[in-house]
Amino acid sequence: MKKIFFYAAVLTGIVFVAACFEFARRGPSAQKPQRVIRFAHFTDIHMEPKRNAPEGLAQALRHMQALADRPTLLITGGDHVMDSFSAKEPWVATQYDTLKKVFREHCDLPIKYCIGNHDVWGGNKKYSETTGLEPYWGKQRPIHEFGMPGRYYSFSQEPWHFIILDSTYPMDGDYIARLDEEQYGWLENELAAHKDQYIVIISHIPILSAAVFYDGDNAKDGYWSIPRGWMHLDSKRLKDLFGRYPNVKLCISGHLHLVDRVEYNGIVYICDGAICAAWWGGNYMECDEGYGVFDLYSDGTFAHQYISYGWIPSPE
Ligand SMILES: [Fe+2]
Repeated sequence: MKKIFFYAAVLTGIVFVAACFEFARRGPSAQKPQRVIRFAHFTDIHMEPKRNAPEGLAQALRHMQALADRPTLLITGGDHVMDSFSAKEPWVATQYDTLKKVFREHCDLPIKYCIGNHDVWGGNKKYSETTGLEPYWGKQRPIHEFGMPGRYYSFSQEPWHFIILDSTYPMDGDYIARLDEEQYGWLENELAAHKDQYIVIISHIPILSAAVFYDGDNAKDGYWSIPRGWMHLDSKRLKDLFGRYPNVKLCISGHLHLVDRVEYNGIVYICDGAICAAWWGGNYMECDEGYGVFDLYSDGTFAHQYISYGWIPSPE
């Protein structure tokens, strides 16, 4: 009996030592990561009361909220309205009112908004027939319409920190894609203050993209030529800033109405299609009418899928 007890004790000891070794090797973070949040990303809606666009958005919202694993938050990616940059009142009001009515009637989720270039009222003063002195002119229009805390802002869902940027830099009646100095300084401070969280950044215009090369005839002169409003002109500056923070994990955008995924220096950049695809006229190149669904996990990893919601364009 003593011999059996001895062998049992030795075996127990071996199992215990092996378990300790495995814990030390894999560490406490080897626990199965938990999903922190599942959110939907609706970008480039381009709403106006034409081509059945209101029904299209309603269909996308119903589709997303009927998923068996339903998101708990909706984040928009900008270009909510067809255009207010060069449009006159009251058409701008009609577009915003139409969009808000669809959200009100068909969306039960909380919504966080990101400004796109077409949301900026009167960026082109000539065509919009504005002076810049009107109430809620410029970016104040989407801030006012959506009750946003500002044109850029952040919020947390531990251990993740969301940073919503304003990509549109109006210039000479048009726009380029970059952060103004005030916003860049704010972003620097945000990243310095949230080193202990995983960072996800949402911008309307891509900070880095592969699809941008295919959008338009960009090699016709024998050189790659990317318009300055297609992708962030300050991409390198942002890349260098992000490089100081290994906790920056994911950058999500829209604007191109195309889907891509680029990984550079440990950060994944996803351009996430468009709700309206080709402005409610069917596919845009290889991109269906669709929306993104993102799962963020407790260990800083994430998953993304782009889901077509089956929209059939109106023949009109
Ligand atoms: Fe856009």
